[in-house]
Amino acid sequence: MKAAIYTRYGSADTVHLAEHPTPAPGPGQVLVRVHAASVTTADWRMRAAAYPGILWLPGRLMTGLFKPKQPVLGTSMAGEIVATGAQVTRFRTGQRVFGFVGSGAHAEYVAVDEDGALVETPEALTDAEAAALPFGALSALVFLRDVAQVQPGQDVLIVGASGGVGAYATQIAKALGARVTAVAGPGRETLLGGLGADRIVNYREENPAAARQAYDVVLDTVGATTWPEMRRALKPGGLFVPLNFTGKDMLHALRARFDKTRVKLAVSGDTADDLRALTDMIGKGEVRAVIDSRWPFDRIAEAHAHVEARHSAGTVIVEIARGTSHKAAA
Ligand SMILES: NC(=O)c1ccc[n+]([C@@H]2O[C@H](COP(=O)([O-])OP(=O)(O)OC[C@H]3O[C@@H](n4cnc5c(N)ncnc54)[C@H](OP(=O)(O)O)[C@@H]3O)[C@@H](O)[C@H]2O)c1
Repeated sequence: MKAAIYTRYGSADTVHLAEHPTPAPGPGQVLVRVHAASVTTADWRMRAAAYPGILWLPGRLMTGLFKPKQPVLGTSMAGEIVATGAQVTRFRTGQRVFGFVGSGAHAEYVAVDEDGALVETPEALTDAEAAALPFGALSALVFLRDVAQVQPGQDVLIVGASGGVGAYATQIAKALGARVTAVAGPGRETLLGGLGADRIVNYREENPAAARQAYDVVLDTVGATTWPEMRRALKPGGLFVPLNFTGKDMLHALRARFDKTRVKLAVSGDTADDLRALTDMIGKGEVRAVIDSRWPFDRIAEAHAHVEARHSAGTVIVEIARGTSHKAAA
């Protein structure tokens, strides 16, 4: 099969298409023909070994100390099941599915555990829309619902509100009943208004840290703010959640134990139940896929460079097989 591979850490052009062995599904796995996959900040971080601060060492230990252990990136995809392992009971050949696979989605085929974060693709979603969801929307759901435990009527600030995670965080915070202030750069007003933001802050014109006791929760998806800057913008008891945390944020979390405000550091989960929770929100019209751009498979290195620039408006999609605009056959 064709796969986008990288064999050393480096810039976007280290990623290139090559022949790679087609994975054989294990007894509890399905083989998915990938129609569309997302290219995300996780792919950029793994490809460039761009882990923030002291996370460099655990990051390298995870992906390979001197060179990548797994040459095919790609955390999230949508496609069609073309083979099932002997013990598979939940899925069948021909079914459209989407999910979070961790790595390996930037290829024509990927083998996925049937018990993993994999669900049937709702008829209303194209493959590109489905592939757009698992990385950003799952992260946003877990951080807002479980880590921050956002309650109806709370004031929530999303920093990086138009990005790969932020575009979903804005919608999910709204769906949880919050009043949402969305921070992004110039020209994002229409997008953010459409995603439900109550107030929009252009970070080039207004410093979100200048607010006083305004927010119950600050979710910074970019690493553009710190707790010492934001603590006076939080209400007493308010919570600062940086997605992109470093050793400094760990120290801030310790210091915040003696403050009126709080800091929580976490990593996002990926479960089939949460994907189903997301598809329910989509069915109710509370959340939609936000696609920044679509790239043909042979231009995946350009998609990587685009993601690395950190100004995506939603999810970047690479189209791997024909059928990315395909919905279920009538
Ligand atoms: N802890 C976890 O488990 C976890 C899970 C998922 C992601 N992450 C991390 O979270 C981070 C966010 O990922 P992402 O995919 O959402 O990133 P992204 O798509 O690159 O985010 C881009 C967003 O950041 C905004 N932005 C850029 N500079 C800004 C600034 N100075 N102030 C405010 N906003 C600014 C952009 O707005 P404009 O384009 O308008 O400038 C855009 O909205 C990544 O570092 C990723 O590694 C962590």
